[in-house]
Amino acid sequence: MGKEVTMDKIVSLCKRRGFVFQSSEIYGGLSSAWDYGPLGTELKQNIRDFWWKAMTRMHDNIVGLDAAIMMHPKVWEASGHVENFSDPLVDCKSCKTRFRADQIDTGAPCPQCGAVGSFTEPRDFNLMFSTYLGPVKDENGLVYLRPETAQGIFVNFKNVLQSSRVKIPFGIAQVGKAFRNEIVTKNFIFRTCEFEQMEMQFFCKPGTDEEWFEYWKKERMEYYSRLGIHPEHLRFHRHGADELAHYAKDAFDIQFLFPMGWQELEGVHSRTDFDLSRHNRFSGKNELTYLDPDTNERYVPYVIETSAGLTRTVLMVLCDAYEEEELDGGDVRTVLHFHPEVAPVKAAVLPLVKKDGIDELARKIEADLRSEFNVFYDQSGAIGRRYRRMDEIGTPYCITVDYDSKEDGTVTVRWRDSMEQKRVPASSLVEFLRSDMKAYKRV
Ligand code: GAP
Repeated sequence: MGKEVTMDKIVSLCKRRGFVFQSSEIYGGLSSAWDYGPLGTELKQNIRDFWWKAMTRMHDNIVGLDAAIMMHPKVWEASGHVENFSDPLVDCKSCKTRFRADQIDTGAPCPQCGAVGSFTEPRDFNLMFSTYLGPVKDENGLVYLRPETAQGIFVNFKNVLQSSRVKIPFGIAQVGKAFRNEIVTKNFIFRTCEFEQMEMQFFCKPGTDEEWFEYWKKERMEYYSRLGIHPEHLRFHRHGADELAHYAKDAFDIQFLFPMGWQELEGVHSRTDFDLSRHNRFSGKNELTYLDPDTNERYVPYVIETSAGLTRTVLMVLCDAYEEEELDGGDVRTVLHFHPEVAPVKAAVLPLVKKDGIDELARKIEADLRSEFNVFYDQSGAIGRRYRRMDEIGTPYCITVDYDSKEDGTVTVRWRDSMEQKRVPASSLVEFLRSDMKAYKRV
């Protein structure tokens, strides 16, 4: 029972080891806002790079974009967000607590104060944050913080097409912040008002969309196994008619088994020509079209979208990697089995003693590795304790430098997952670690 992965254990490890801190903690915290500490920043950056490589560099027909967070307000009218991006809310007239009407039984007592029949009629509450550009706070300056990164891609369709000489089918990928005034924000960084998305819009010829939809579903699921996630912790969930977003013809969530149950991690959506056509109409310019160079036929492309949460993926990776492993003798070690490519620290350099030139040799090895990997040097405490500290932050390799290292130029490499050890020449350590990381398989 004690070995179960719980959100409390993840939150506590994240705070203790510097992955994630409560925002503005010194002032009592800000609800639903979190800051990424030194290790969390590395982990998030590595996951972003892993996704970017998988989605752009590995495909010769997917290019990148980095659009602004604030966009012309008409974008959100065209996209349907002004009209449709809302949750139905009710207030308890007795204790004034606000709930999402679709998440409670509005005929029952208030879950907060127990009052019966105390709810107001449901009202739609738009999830977009708004602010004002310029010194005057009036409707002319009204702008929204983007609730998804996707629209930056759609409105730049023509710019990318003309500047990059891409041909259909092709994709545009983007990673960036998105904002939603979520009513229910719990479960740590799972659902927050400020978060990051990794999205890709794939433009294809109408009629080929179903084929591409299947392609991207498969590709995205395979990506998670390449990231080392347990396949039994992932599944597809197809949206029913009542779940489909206003833009979607068909949609599948990739769900992960979080400590609180199966929850959405990523959406693969068939968006048809909804967005491009709406921007054509709302802008009054019929620019977002494609002229097929082979057939001379002009059409509005269809879109398959893959939309993953970056901050949510950080939580997923932490939950899936976490293990309290019982060792011989009843001892328990906490390990994060990160894929080496996303591990915040790749290797720790540990001199066995701080004298006789061992520490200097270890510093030299650290310097050699540092140009290739994020490494950590630790010379304090018993070696066993130092190994455990590295296991707990998911460092895949510990490099121990001892008296033999001075004699024969070898060091001990210790693997995080198996705890096996091997002597390796220090001079070939970089190549050794690089090829071992490539061959990594999750146990
Ligand atoms: N462009 C389509 C779109 O935004 P979505 O299903 O609303 O689709 C996609 O969001 C992904 O963004 C989700 O699967 C989730 O990983 C992440 N996400 C959405 N809202 C979030 C929130 N409030 N906090 C953290 N991640 C969120």
